[in-house]
Amino acid sequence: MIKNIKIIGYGSCTPSNVVTNHDLSEIIDTTDEWISKRTGIKERRISKGESTSSLAIAAAKKALNVAGITAAELDLIIVATSTPDCFFPSTGCIVQSEIGAINATSFDLAGACTGFVYATDVAIQYLKTGRFKRALVIGAEVMSKIIDWNDRGTAILFGDGAGAIVITTTDEKKITEVYTKSDGTKSEVLKLPAVPIIDMYDNVKVIDRSIMTMNGQEVFKFACNVIIETIDELISKSNIKLEDVDYIVLHQANSRIIEYVSNKVNINIEKFFMNLDKYGNTSAASIPIALDEMYGKNMLKSGQKLMLIGFGGGLTWGGILLEL
Ligand code: COA
Repeated sequence: MIKNIKIIGYGSCTPSNVVTNHDLSEIIDTTDEWISKRTGIKERRISKGESTSSLAIAAAKKALNVAGITAAELDLIIVATSTPDCFFPSTGCIVQSEIGAINATSFDLAGACTGFVYATDVAIQYLKTGRFKRALVIGAEVMSKIIDWNDRGTAILFGDGAGAIVITTTDEKKITEVYTKSDGTKSEVLKLPAVPIIDMYDNVKVIDRSIMTMNGQEVFKFACNVIIETIDELISKSNIKLEDVDYIVLHQANSRIIEYVSNKVNINIEKFFMNLDKYGNTSAASIPIALDEMYGKNMLKSGQKLMLIGFGGGLTWGGILLEL
């Protein structure tokens, strides 16, 4: 029997080190005015020693606390990340060990900035089929490790952090609709090579650091198009109207992208939660950090309908419409 699912816990953790636009303008050829106007970002958190795993663990503990369950009650841990501390053990296994989730299956998922939506979708499918009952889904990144600090077009956008949710099966009737896509033919638009790249025979190329590259304008256009597509698909799959959705939580990349979408779908900007001014783009962590902040502000109530939409490298995109 297909089960209903619901979110029962939220948590997040960001590094304490705040880097303002003004701070960046001292090391990069940029200004607070340029960054604020083009992106809406005012500051971001940059790790000073915090790792992807340590941020993920702290977010996970908070989410479990809110959910009121023990780590041993978890069946599944998925960590969405493109900046893991290790390829193996996975961040999921590191989190599992630290929180004592002795009964869980744990793994990482690489879906770039769509990672949290993909990971939540995977968890939802496990729960709906009855295979597992309780899942911890985390988005965690230390983007500052993979930023080219000489590339002012990308360096100003990103920040570090982690967010987590606990989801469970429920007997209550709840809407859950999912839509995901990817287009691997556009992989060059946003790219993070693995390290080291070594060709054993000839053309040996070893790079000491994995650096992200991005075509900002292409990503901007792509994002605007696929968000609209995802909203349309989720609404057409459900029996509700877009006006019935209480909040739309888009991946926090750029306020101009969010404003464009708000105008295009004719939904008041107030319904689009935004905290990118404080954290910048934290990739897979941005949506769960936003959810935890909404929870902390008492914005989330039972019965509300939320739309979560991610987009990013791959190219990848997708969304989840769910009822709290
Ligand atoms: N500070 C000052 N000037 C900058 C700058 C910075 N940090 N970065 C770029 N510029 C300059 C450029 O060199 C260019 O100068 P020129 O006109 O003399 O050549 C000018 O600003 C305009 O650059 P452009 O790239 O056209 O700006 P833009 O309006 O497209 O904004 C982004 C750039 C990156 C902010 C924007 O394209 C964007 O947000 N794209 C989406 C990126 C994204 O969300 N990525 C993650 C997705 S998961």
